[in-house]
Amino acid sequence: MCGIVGYVGKRPVVELLLKGLKRLEYRGYDSAGVAFFQNGKIEIKKSEGKLDNVAKQFKENFEPYTNSYCGIGHTRWATHGKPTTQNAHPHRTGHVVLVHNGIIENYQEIRSEILNHGHQPASETDTELFGYLVLDEMNKGLSLKDAVRKSFLSIKGSCSVVVLSEKEPGTIIGVRHGSPLVVAQDPLGGALLASDAQPIIEYNKEVVFLDHGEIVVGTEKGIDFFDLKSGKSIEKKRVSLDWSSEQLDKQGFPHYMLKEIYEQPNAFVDTLNLMIDRFTAKNPFPLAKQPGVELLYKAKELQIVACGTSYHAILLGKYWLEKWAKIPTQVDLSSEFRYRAPVIKPGTLVIGVTQSGETADTLAVIRDMKQLGVPTLGLTNVRGSTISREADAVFYTASGPEVGVAATKTFFTQMLAFLLWAGNLGFNHGAKVSYLFQKIVELPHLLKDCLSPDGEIISEVKNAAKTLFPMKGFFFIGRGLSFPIALEGALKLKEISYVHAEGYAGGELKHGPIAMIDDQMVVVVLAPQDCWHDKTISNLEEVKARGAKILGIGTRGDKMLSSLCHHFVGLPPGVEEDLMPFLLVTVVQLFSYELAVLKGTDIDQPRNLAKSVTVE
Ligand code: AGP
Repeated sequence: MCGIVGYVGKRPVVELLLKGLKRLEYRGYDSAGVAFFQNGKIEIKKSEGKLDNVAKQFKENFEPYTNSYCGIGHTRWATHGKPTTQNAHPHRTGHVVLVHNGIIENYQEIRSEILNHGHQPASETDTELFGYLVLDEMNKGLSLKDAVRKSFLSIKGSCSVVVLSEKEPGTIIGVRHGSPLVVAQDPLGGALLASDAQPIIEYNKEVVFLDHGEIVVGTEKGIDFFDLKSGKSIEKKRVSLDWSSEQLDKQGFPHYMLKEIYEQPNAFVDTLNLMIDRFTAKNPFPLAKQPGVELLYKAKELQIVACGTSYHAILLGKYWLEKWAKIPTQVDLSSEFRYRAPVIKPGTLVIGVTQSGETADTLAVIRDMKQLGVPTLGLTNVRGSTISREADAVFYTASGPEVGVAATKTFFTQMLAFLLWAGNLGFNHGAKVSYLFQKIVELPHLLKDCLSPDGEIISEVKNAAKTLFPMKGFFFIGRGLSFPIALEGALKLKEISYVHAEGYAGGELKHGPIAMIDDQMVVVVLAPQDCWHDKTISNLEEVKARGAKILGIGTRGDKMLSSLCHHFVGLPPGVEEDLMPFLLVTVVQLFSYELAVLKGTDIDQPRNLAKSVTVE
């Protein structure tokens, strides 16, 4: 979704803003712009399309701007109004210039008010209307901070704004009421603001996450915080982030997505180290003591919600939690759960899973449940994110920053978190899980072998992608633990290659989708040697008989399966059934990636998609 960067201090601002916006590109956007003080006036450069269109307006010569130390930048993902240059942010309303992330809900009402005051908005955006509110308040004599505060109190919706005024050069005002805003002190003197920590961490890893209804005032002297309603000064806690700016670079990989797939073994190890305590915990699945563990222990039932890829992780979680921990587990899409009337039995723990920690629908469920007095738990990859502050307790995965819009390594570590919870709770209920934990510890080594660039798996995946990419459509099928991976494989392929793909439980094919099968369709069959293997093979036969091209992913040496496939990717034999999803998902991610490379799509920033979906 939209990205905001703001800076005031001692560093030349134009390059800092462009670099910061580059770091936010992964969030998804369709226009961009920057505004900066130049000789006491604010200059704006913006454009539809990619950030490079804005950078080009400087003709690679930043020399004339090296004395500019205060500005704001924005990447816009269109909500109100088309993704045109005119609608791109920043917007100017007289001496006020602003950027905005989120939606102003009483837009029509504010628009009539603005028109009545004689203003003529130049764009179709709700943002510009807010600018006029601030301008009118400043013209009545209020300071920039008070004008922004008063204006904000008159709007409805979930959004954040960052505002400058030529009447108060060197001051940046940010308000959060919905969409996230992260702030840090510039160690050289000054303030950094952004929609997430990625543009900030190379300057300072000690950041402050604004909460709803808070204002930050940034000047060359630093940062001050205020409550939006009362206007009173408040103290904020600094959070120290363990991400490094090197992790944000591609490090020789052609795309972030590929780099992030290759980082999965390390992300797995880091998450394992973060979640377990092998020295003092007695359980063979030694979850480290933390408030979330207590909530899990107390729960009689689990209700888990998530969106997109995280939803696929919770589906797998259900299989593991029911199998090992024997705890009744319901899963649902956050956007469905929040608008139905679920029956929450006493003793239910509601868990929101979101890699970004900012997905609007998942956060809404957590808030609704808190209001009902239901205990809530979050699982996220981002320290300090909204879910980590709003849920009663939180577990973190340690994937490091994920820049590719298509989630890969964060899904991988979410799966691990579920398996660890299931194993730990399972042991408490008498399940024999010690051997499984040992296998978990060995998995990253195995995975590294599988990912060897000159190995058989990679070459099979590339071959399959080369032959199959002109085909009309794809089905991914699997049963049991492979079913959520089938859904995830289809989602990945759709997201990054724009090819029609659907994920199905193998047993469901004959209930309708089989009508689609002909010789222009590919069926990707996930059939490792597990308890569902033979049933899945029957489903394979059904589609093969109707002409489908088969890409089988299963266990190396499985002659029955490989003989039925046009392409076959063999995974190492002897892998525990419960660990197979980690290998399978890596293969479907790589297959989608290779196919997208052949299609020539924008793999890291696929069209129409945003990394964190902060509006519903
Ligand atoms: C994943 O590849 C997608 N980009 C998307 O489905 C994502 O998983 C979804 O928006 C949920 O995000 P979250 O995990 O940050 O809540």
